[in-house]
Formats: sequence, C-alpha cells, structure tokens
Amino acid sequence: MKIAVTAKELAADGACAFVPTMGALHAGHASLIKKAREYSGTVVVSIFINPLQFENKDDLAKYPRTPEFDIELAAQAGATHLWLPHVDEIYPGEVQKISAGPLGDIYEGVKRPGHFDGVLTVVNRLFELVKPTWAIFGEKDFQQLTLIKSMKSNVQIIGAPTVRDSDGLALSSRNIRVSDRDAALVIYRALIAAAQEKNIDLARTVVMEVLRSEEAFTLDYAEIINESNFGKASQNDESKRAIIAGWVNGIRLIDNMPMNGGAQ
Ligand code: PAF
Repeated sequence: MKIAVTAKELAADGACAFVPTMGALHAGHASLIKKAREYSGTVVVSIFINPLQFENKDDLAKYPRTPEFDIELAAQAGATHLWLPHVDEIYPGEVQKISAGPLGDIYEGVKRPGHFDGVLTVVNRLFELVKPTWAIFGEKDFQQLTLIKSMKSNVQIIGAPTVRDSDGLALSSRNIRVSDRDAALVIYRALIAAAQEKNIDLARTVVMEVLRSEEAFTLDYAEIINESNFGKASQNDESKRAIIAGWVNGIRLIDNMPMNGGAQ
C-alpha cells in the first residue's frame, strides 16, 4: 500500500474507488474498503479530520487518532493507496462552502448547524483532488449518504450496508466507547421491531414503546422516513427507513434500518 501526503504523490492511476474517512478505522471501514475493491483494483483511502464539520472545537480536539492501527487496517482490508492530506492542501485559501440545503437542517442537522455543509464541502474537495470514479460511504450515516448522493458530481456514490457486531450493535467509533452495551442495544431492538411491522403507524408506536423501555436511553429523534426525501413516510411509500438517535450515558448514538416489513 502506497502512503502519500499530497494528492500529487498519491498518483492513483486509472479508474479508482475511493473511501474517504476521518481515521479511527474499525471493521465498518474495512467493509467499505472491501466493497471498493469490488469496483476497482485501485482503492484510495483518505484520512482527514475535517475541521469544517465540527461545530464544537472540543469535539475536534478529542476526535480519536489511531494512525498506526489505521495504516494496518487499511492495508489488510485491501487499500492500495492511503492519503493523509494536510489541511493546507484541502483548504488552500478562503473556503467556498457547499450548502446542504434544507435536508442539512433536520434530524442530525438540528443540533449540529453547518455540519453537513462541512461534510459536503470536504467531500467535494476530496473528489476534486482524488478524481475517483466511485466513492463508497456507509449507510450507518444515512442522512450524510443521502446528501452526498444529491451533490452535483461525476463520481458514482455507492452506499454500503451497516456492519453490526454479533449482538446487533452497529460498528462506529462512538459505539466502541459505549460502556452500557445492553442499554445501547435498545436502538437495535427498536429498529428490528419497526422493520418487522408492516403497518407504519404500528411501527412508529412499537419503536417508541421499545425505546421507552430502556431507562438509560434519552431520545433525540425516532422516525420512519421516506428514503427519497427524508420526509415522514406514508404507508404506500416504496422505500421507507426507520432512523433513531439518542443518548446513553453521555454518548450520542445513531442508527437506521430499511423497513422491509419482515425480519432481518
Ligand atoms: O463519515 C465520515 O467519516 C466523514 O463525514 C467523511 C465522509 C469522511 C467526511 O469528512
């Protein structure tokens, strides 16, 4: 695996598949890298902790940094190129921000104003420098994936399913910090209950019942959305998804699941 600091050194020739990350890699990222290998023999992984998507400077400072482990994981998962750009290369002058529009202001955007503008701005800039043919993003951050898909670009955006531990907890850098695993699993239990329910009103009721059953869980939002526009889903909408966010012992957790009207 070639390690580069500048995009020029990267020189990933041919049609490459790209996995942008902020590091602290785990098995979820490994699955994105493996997915990327299905599209191309050249897989570029970037690690860049994007200051523009942190509204809180403390969160930015505390963001986990595990460079040696990340290099190992990226190589083992099949990355051919690892890019560790400096902030000056990503934002050389005054930053022209990309607006996420109204979808950037709901759900995850409510308490994180400007977060999705920061995500789209960096993804666009990373695309300009890497020029990939495909880019892979996890469904775990479904609102982010939807916004990136809606961004004007020539890059084909591929969504990859959420990777879960054997007990169902989605893999993410935050979930790794969870101490009360059983309480955190209430989100998974609520999603499964919703996904098994054919009637959307009953699904909404059952989600709330399951979430309320866990005292250590504080709800941020729970909704069944129409995947195409993130509006509140109606029974006959084709692609529906349950989305949940909340807190367990000071850690904010998010997860989602497609509503298939059957167990998964
Ligand atoms: O999902 C992430 O890790 C980040 O939001 C991304 C897409 C790499 C942009 O910084």
